[in-house]
Amino acid sequence: MNLLVLPAMEKQPYIGVCLGPRCGDYGGRALMQALRDSEAVNCRSLCAHAPVVALEGRCLLRATAQEVVEEMRR
Ligand code: FES
Repeated sequence: MNLLVLPAMEKQPYIGVCLGPRCGDYGGRALMQALRDSEAVNCRSLCAHAPVVALEGRCLLRATAQEVVEEMRR
């Protein structure tokens, strides 16, 4: 009998992309598509800094997919 042993998966960080009215129009929807395993979150009252991404208890302002990936690596 052959067994395939998979490496332990690291915990996936929580990524919440704001899809409130402002963030949704200013890149939130595109971020949702670009960031696999992200969840939609409600407005964080940081609309002037759209799009907002919640990442492990922090909020990234005027976030880009590249910045989110860089933050996840820290
Ligand atoms: S719509 Fe995203 S913080 Fe308000």
